[in-house]
Amino acid sequence: MDTVQAQTEPLENIEEWDDFIASRYREGKDESEFRNYDEKANPSVAEFYSQNHANQTLDFVLAKEKEFGALKKGKNSIWAAADYLNTLIDDSDPDTDLSQIEHLLQTSEAIRRDGHPRWFILAGFIHDLGKVLCLYGEPQWAVVGDTFPVGCAYSDQIIFPQYFSLNPDSKVSEYQSLYGIYEPHCGLDKVHLSWGHDEYIYRVTRNYMPEPAQYMLRYHSFYAAHRHGAYRHLMTEHDENMFEWVRKFNPYDLYSKGAAKPNLKELKPFYEDLIAEFFPAEIDW
Ligand SMILES: [Fe+2]
Ligand SMILES: [Fe+2]
Repeated sequence: MDTVQAQTEPLENIEEWDDFIASRYREGKDESEFRNYDEKANPSVAEFYSQNHANQTLDFVLAKEKEFGALKKGKNSIWAAADYLNTLIDDSDPDTDLSQIEHLLQTSEAIRRDGHPRWFILAGFIHDLGKVLCLYGEPQWAVVGDTFPVGCAYSDQIIFPQYFSLNPDSKVSEYQSLYGIYEPHCGLDKVHLSWGHDEYIYRVTRNYMPEPAQYMLRYHSFYAAHRHGAYRHLMTEHDENMFEWVRKFNPYDLYSKGAAKPNLKELKPFYEDLIAEFFPAEIDW
């Protein structure tokens, strides 16, 4: 992986990817605009996706699942992880860009305002904590980006599908059939998605959160499936039902950013209670 480590990070910070997604799905934008996304209009995002699509091989994903799925990075509280994540982007202009905690709180507060259950609010608050992978030294392409199954054919519903020709798996015929290494309707739990912050936070929190929340956390960046209906041939009926929750969650992630800056001090007691309701003081990361 030496050559990969040597690559420069194309995004100024990983929020650039989140902003790209939000603009991609800006309400009212039609499907053709999404499909014909211009590489030249946003070269850093295009370079990011080329690295992501080139390097997320089945072998890479299996290795990361093993490395981080073992949860051996140490114990930490949810709140401390949020504080830790907040150190990620040290913006010189704090007025224009939101901190990580602010994005989490805007998401969860929008969910709370709509009267959703407490576990749903909590899912909003923790959904991006897997981005601490960046602080472990992982490259951007292994932390953020739309997720997609590896070990089977790439859907043309994934953004910038042309970059998959850079992925060594694209030359492995076994991985390029419709089902690849999987069985029809085997269920998404058996499918390996490209590695990133979604899978990591799912693994860290799965013993504590109800199942719909687990789906929201695990698949919130799986846009090809939850926005474009791809990969239904790998899903069970149960997955399909659970994806209703993933779709319910997505607008809060994408469209809550314009809201007023959350008052961290005022909100902290509510979130401390909420976290304590579902999680022990510390969990394994
Ligand atoms: Fe995310
Ligand atoms: Fe997010």
